[in-house]
Amino acid sequence: MSTLVTGVAELVTQDASLGTLTDAALVVDAGRVAWVGPASRAPDADERVDVGGRAVVPGFVDSHTHLVFAGDRSAEFAARMRGERYDGGGIASTVAATRAAGEEELRVRLQGLVTEMRRQGTTTVEVKSGYGLTTADEVRALRLAREVTPETTFLGAHVVPPELAGRREEYLALVTGDMLAACAPHARWVDVFCEPSSAHAFDAEESRAVLQAGRAAGLGLRVHANQLGHGPGVRLAVELGAASADHCTYLSAADVDALAGSATVATLLPGVEFSTRSPYPDARRLLDAGVVVALATDCNPGTSFTSSMPLCIALAVREMAMTPSEALWAATAGGARALRRDDVGHLGVGARADLVVLDAPSHLHLAYRPGVPLATPLLGP
Ligand code: NIG
Ligand code: FE
Repeated sequence: MSTLVTGVAELVTQDASLGTLTDAALVVDAGRVAWVGPASRAPDADERVDVGGRAVVPGFVDSHTHLVFAGDRSAEFAARMRGERYDGGGIASTVAATRAAGEEELRVRLQGLVTEMRRQGTTTVEVKSGYGLTTADEVRALRLAREVTPETTFLGAHVVPPELAGRREEYLALVTGDMLAACAPHARWVDVFCEPSSAHAFDAEESRAVLQAGRAAGLGLRVHANQLGHGPGVRLAVELGAASADHCTYLSAADVDALAGSATVATLLPGVEFSTRSPYPDARRLLDAGVVVALATDCNPGTSFTSSMPLCIALAVREMAMTPSEALWAATAGGARALRRDDVGHLGVGARADLVVLDAPSHLHLAYRPGVPLATPLLGP
């Protein structure tokens, strides 16, 4: 059954040869984009959907989230708004709540967040573990994540769990050994919180060990890098060929140079700086150096409890000097690059038909009308 989508005032394809079309149409067949072009040349299809002069963009690709958790950290958020600094210490409270939660409670919460995201235009989402930190709890998180997405990430190396405080080597041996072996069948990626300036996270050599073990187990690499201060995370990500270095808030000239000449995407997470009242990453510097930039929510209960990619786009434009087009590219095609996917994040022929309609005549409104629910998925469940 094919569907002709008409009445598209602006179609942002993120396809290099098609670009952005005005007064466009598009045919979807069997869940894929089958034809794209000017409305005047649209072919016939089995059915028609008229979007009434609105803009259509690719569904957002949220390439960094932590959606499997229980508990509430609103009091920690309030403390930060009074001036307390974030150092990763609050992760332990989510770990305790997540371990104590039943599987069905975690599933309902996870599915609720995925539904919330979809309603705001996110059609591809990556989900990390990292609030279990025992083999059984990490496997459970990844099994649940697999129910909602193929983009699952093993983040056993989120922090050293409280019961092993002072016994980091023991935990590292578990994360790179039995825990990894049990988790790898449920994961596509491995990630590590590389942040020597946090007592809770991991230094360069520990992070290297986690990433190398993950790669040997068949996983692709991602790194939480340079979030809280300058450090080795970004250069390690580039050296090991990680798909993405995430956060990138504190970067040296050498970090920017390394990213610029690499296949590693810099994934910026402005919801974190917004929610922790911290300085935003310098997106302009990265873009001007030729670095591929993605935007994601980092949806998690500690540093960024937002599921909204449109909010991240608005923040990137207002606070990080990205143009509206750059921000939309980073939230769609950039996210796809960060996940090494070529079937999402654009609307070229053959792409998944993840169409999002904006209740607006152009994509500029995503940043121009912050906080307004403009984006809705057009077809599909
Ligand atoms: O991406 N930096 C480490 N992990 C999360 C925060 C997790 C938490 O505070 O619960 C992040 O910001
Ligand atoms: Fe994160």
